[in-house]
Amino acid sequence: MTQIPKVVIPAAGLGTRMRPATLAVDKELLTVVDRPIIDYIAMEAALAGVEELVLVCRESRPAVLGYLQARSDAWPGLSRFSVVVQERPLGLGDAVLQSRSVVGAAPFGVMLPDVLLYPPQAGMAALVQAFAGNSLILVNPVPSAQLSAYGIADCDDTREGVLPVRGLVEKPEPDQAPSNLAVTGRYLFTPELFEWLARQGSGHNDEVQLTDAMTRLELGAVRFDGRCYDCGSRAGLVQAVLEYGLRDPQLAPILRTALSTL
Ligand code: G1P
Repeated sequence: MTQIPKVVIPAAGLGTRMRPATLAVDKELLTVVDRPIIDYIAMEAALAGVEELVLVCRESRPAVLGYLQARSDAWPGLSRFSVVVQERPLGLGDAVLQSRSVVGAAPFGVMLPDVLLYPPQAGMAALVQAFAGNSLILVNPVPSAQLSAYGIADCDDTREGVLPVRGLVEKPEPDQAPSNLAVTGRYLFTPELFEWLARQGSGHNDEVQLTDAMTRLELGAVRFDGRCYDCGSRAGLVQAVLEYGLRDPQLAPILRTALSTL
């Protein structure tokens, strides 16, 4: 299995959908049960054999860096954390491009810290296991009402294994979506991605879109059939708390009683 030592974590967003909580604490540090979201992301990265998280932030000493350093012995093999600054909010593609000099010329992962997956070992680790030279994305089926919230992959869902991606559309209207397979926020890229990002202008929403550069790559999709929570939204964060709370042997009976009596 190829080793993927570095994962880029775009963490420069303002968390506007989660105000007022994000006026007090950065989005990546919002709590799911008793751990901040970034802790689950670090655990998922460690399960994939990752050694270093490269945070893309608005400032050089973000609170999330202090948290990861304080917990650095919590994740086997994952003990290095670095920060690159995104000076201006030009979009996800621009955020990833800022990491180019730190990532270098090796394949690397990208994990969006808004998204928590269950089970975590079917996330980044599944991409690392499937990697055979071409870039990969994790996709999961979503209902048609949610298609316009995601990048949607044009690929043949009836096959087993890695699905060749014919195209991608960022946040399509349901009647323009090429499939029901959404990009979940886990990516494994060859460094060629940076070349396309560097020469690309703004796309959807006037931002430099990661999705647009991805359409230039030989790309495969790995299907994820677990559960996916957008913790940048109120509903997603509360559902993630329920998922992890109900999997905690001490909390589960208390939560079930509470839910049945509310
Ligand atoms: C981003 C990506 C989108 C992806 C989504 C996953 O959108 O642009 O392709 O499906 O994350 O959460 P955002 O949620 O940042 O608007």
